[in-house]
This record gives sequence, C-alpha cells and structure tokens, in this order.
Amino acid sequence: MATPHINAEMGDFAPAVLMPGDPRRAQRIAELLFDEPRMVNDVRGMMGFTGEINGKPLSVMGSGMGQPSFSIYATELFRFFGVERIIRVGTCGGIAPQVKVGDVVVAMGAHTDSSMNQLRIPGVNFSAVASYNLVRAAVDAASEEDTVHVGTIISRDHFYFAPEGQAQKLADYGVLGVEMEAAALYGVAAEHGKEALTVLTCSDHLFDSSSDMTAEERETRFQSSLRLAVAAALS
Ligand code: HPA
Repeated sequence: MATPHINAEMGDFAPAVLMPGDPRRAQRIAELLFDEPRMVNDVRGMMGFTGEINGKPLSVMGSGMGQPSFSIYATELFRFFGVERIIRVGTCGGIAPQVKVGDVVVAMGAHTDSSMNQLRIPGVNFSAVASYNLVRAAVDAASEEDTVHVGTIISRDHFYFAPEGQAQKLADYGVLGVEMEAAALYGVAAEHGKEALTVLTCSDHLFDSSSDMTAEERETRFQSSLRLAVAAALS
C-alpha cells in the first residue's frame, strides 16, 4: 500500500535500505551495486531502488536533508514496507582534529540540537545510538587502506548557523563530525524496535577549510564508506 511519500507495495523494499541524502546519489549507488536496479519510489523525486548483491536483496533510497525529512522516510519504511534496518550513508564536516577529509566516520552515537528526540520520552534526554551489530559489521569490513573513526557525531538542525564556541566545545568532548540526520534515524529505529547505522565520509573540516574535497573527490572517497555500509546492511 502506498504511503504519502512512498509509492510502493509491501515487498518492493529489501529488509535493508541504504539512505544517502541525495536521490541522485541513491540512483548512482544503485547503478554501481546492482546489475538490474528496479525503481521502487519516485514520489517528490525521492528515488528508491531495489536490487541484489550476490543473491541478497538490498534497497537504496534518498532521504532528503535534515531530521524531519529523514524521519518521514524512515518511519514509513519501518512501519509499512517491512524494512528491518536502515543505514544512512552521507558526508559530514570534520570536528575532531584526527578526522581528515576523506576519512570514514562510523557514528556510534549522535548528539543533537534538534527537539525531535526530546519529545519521545517525557522528562528524558534520549540517547541516540546505532545498533551494535551494525557498528561491528561495518568496522570489521574496513581494510588497511581505510581510515575509520568510530564514535559520536552531532546531528544539527542548522547548516549555516551555529552558536559561538559550539564547535570548539564539541571538539573538546571528542565529537568526530557534524551532519544533519543520524540522531533522528536512531530515534525512529528505537521507536520501531529496528536497526540503524550511519556511515559518513568527511567532506570538509570545520577547523581546516584548506582540505575541502572537490565534487569529484567526494564521489571517489565516498566508495570507502559505501563498502562499509553495504557490509553492515548485508551482515
Ligand atoms: N554541517 C557542516 N559541514 C558539513 C555538514 C554539515 O551538516 N555536512 C557536511 N559538511
């Protein structure tokens, strides 16, 4: 049965879904991974595809940007399409000094300035954490060429605004990077008793703009985190 944002039927999506923010990236990932990608959603241009890797089904769909957009798609996938695990694949801004542009960040937990998880359990600061099995599978899949950091990130609501001194404080607390979706994904997964993970490529650094990636580099370096995400999805 179609939902307001996904024009598909039960069974169209695989139990595991990779979710980049950009629907065109979802299409490129599907073309890269699958011999015969089948489009399963195109509502609002948010393309979703299902295919197979070594006989195992996998889906890829865009999420849009920000926690509200991600929450809508994750909720509908978990609730109405039999999806059991969602792995966000995306980029982050580096915060910790050891995270360099092109490195992979596996987000074990996500701090947030969003109110979305604050609303979940009255009187509680919800802990937005990834599924341990997926973290382990992703990290186990790393090869010697990959530089992988495992730890916390922050999922912020603003891209262009930050309170004075916030980035430095986050660095002081060992936060690896910043993006805009993971905390919401982890909240929606907990709400539905499902599994979730976020694997990011560092695309730029908040304290070192000299090392920002070009669009082309972004695409190649993205392959490393994609490999880890696929390994987790199919584990
Ligand atoms: N914020 C800042 N820099 C970034 C982000 C973000 O959400 N994503 C990638 N680089």
